[in-house]
Amino acid sequence: MSSPVLLAFGAGPNVGLALARNFAKHGYKVALAARNPNPDVSKAADLVVEADFSVPDAVVSTFAKVKETLGIPSVVVYNAYSWHPSPDHPFSISVSDFNTDMVVNTTSAFAAAQEAMKSFAQLPADASKTFIYTGNIFNIPGRLILPGTSLGAGKSATAHIIANAASTNPSNGYKFYYADERTPDGEPVMRGISGEAHGEFYYELARNSKQGPWLATFVKGKGYVDFSAKDRV
Ligand SMILES: NC(=O)c1ccc[n+]([C@@H]2O[C@H](COP(=O)([O-])OP(=O)(O)OC[C@H]3O[C@@H](n4cnc5c(N)ncnc54)[C@H](OP(=O)(O)O)[C@@H]3O)[C@@H](O)[C@H]2O)c1
Repeated sequence: MSSPVLLAFGAGPNVGLALARNFAKHGYKVALAARNPNPDVSKAADLVVEADFSVPDAVVSTFAKVKETLGIPSVVVYNAYSWHPSPDHPFSISVSDFNTDMVVNTTSAFAAAQEAMKSFAQLPADASKTFIYTGNIFNIPGRLILPGTSLGAGKSATAHIIANAASTNPSNGYKFYYADERTPDGEPVMRGISGEAHGEFYYELARNSKQGPWLATFVKGKGYVDFSAKDRV
């Protein structure tokens, strides 16, 4: 049996690198797509694709390259993000910068999920078929108001897409998650984000055969924690 393939979009030195190392340890071939791959990221992968996801077509060409070189991706992670802060008021960034953030945070993620669906249809019944979007707390209205209009808009829009995908795919074994690392008391980890915790949690999401809660809030060392009561504002 050939090794399963992980494809991660937006692989930097934190989450992307940790995912590569953890999935490789569990027998996966690893493809990482990065705009500026650093040497550690390149060393950790079986294939590195240089791509800029401010152009959604780059998602499609990345999938084609990975399928041709390593095989059909069975776990797809979208980790890239773009953020032009709007410090003065919500409308203090240009429409062009807002649009760039929306493309990287949502449109290219939509393209990646769409291509993942096509890949999943080509895989054997017992393969993991898992799409994970790296989110944050910005999809919860009112939980955190920061100078993050465009980042919050993009994360929220993609959370909507993931929720829909998770609810429409229960019978075919396809799984869709919006993963959000939190502190043990349900606050955003922000700069304390742990690549290692993402590596471990995402592997568990890939390994489980059934769709769990699409809003996959998790805590380092614990895994999934339901913060819905706290998030009701
Ligand atoms: N749960 C939380 O509270 C929390 C906290 C922080 C972050 N996050 C989320 O975690 C994810 C990133 O975390 P991380 O620590 O892995 O960050 P990271 O190491 O900076 O990785 C992000 C990667 O995205 C890439 N990227 C950005 N724009 C791109 C584009 N247009 N095309 C291709 N690649 C692009 C960056 O590439 P370059 O190196 O070229 O810039 C970088 O390699 C994001 O989705 C973020 O929203 C969540």
